Amino acid sequence: MSATGFENKPGYIWINGEFVKWNESYEHILNHAMHYGSSVFEGDRAYNGKIFKLDEHSKRLIRSAEILGMKVPYTAEEINQACIDTLKKQGFTNAYVRPYVWRGIGDGLSIAGDNNKINLLIAMWEWPSYYSKDELMQGIKLCFAEYKRPSPATAPFEAKAAGLYVICTLSKHKAEAKGYSDALMLDYQGNVAEATSANIFFVKDGELHTPKADTFLNGITRRTVIALAKDANIKVHEGYIKPEELGDFTECFLTGTAAEITPVSVIETHTYKPAAVTAQLMDAYYKLVGKTA
Ligand SMILES: Cc1ncc(COP(=O)(O)O)c(C=O)c1O
Repeated sequence: MSATGFENKPGYIWINGEFVKWNESYEHILNHAMHYGSSVFEGDRAYNGKIFKLDEHSKRLIRSAEILGMKVPYTAEEINQACIDTLKKQGFTNAYVRPYVWRGIGDGLSIAGDNNKINLLIAMWEWPSYYSKDELMQGIKLCFAEYKRPSPATAPFEAKAAGLYVICTLSKHKAEAKGYSDALMLDYQGNVAEATSANIFFVKDGELHTPKADTFLNGITRRTVIALAKDANIKVHEGYIKPEELGDFTECFLTGTAAEITPVSVIETHTYKPAAVTAQLMDAYYKLVGKTA
């Protein structure tokens, strides 16, 4: 048994159209995804029994797979339904949802895996809010990551591909070892990009500033927050932000399905005070997703 016992939870995982017992959900260890990183995934969240932006997540999953040359053998509608069925089967109302597509086992273990089966699983687990809004408003601390977001000519940045997370895991581990919660990654040209699994926003004079998403995932939450800001007549600037400009901002927060809106209080030597704009967008986001807990 592993340190967490995560493999021994009760319940089921939807795998290729069937509910398989959580603790019996195994795949042969010589599968292509494990050896060559040929897998893509999603992270959705269910609030009060409804998966937020489910269709957008399912479509992004299919698109991510396509970018990696994999044709998902299910339509977005079928994936949506499977997610809804799994939520029901698990009996959850608030949950994190993990659809995952991978290239499975083949005739051998060659780098080419065109004939290997493409698989889909949907797992979900309860993920309550650990922090109240007041606690969140204290803000988390970020340091700079050692690794940079690669150029679009080097990595398929629009795909939510598991392989792209290697530098994220390394950066997060290093940040935590130094006492920070997460790391801020720059892009290959030295512009501010994003955290290891969330996008970043800044506030200056009541207006939002966020890096242009041309080397990293343009998150569904990022787009949602931009729309919410525009609805609230908060001006949004998408552009290149240099590390030297980090001292110009007063508020900072991260966005992501898992992170939701997480205020930031420190980036290395810069300090921020999560305040009115962050709080207003958090309230608007919670209302939109139907978060009550
Ligand atoms: C690297 C990375 N950037 C950004 C995001 C935010 O994306 P979303 O808001 O679609 O969850 C995520 C989370 O999925 C991520 O892993």
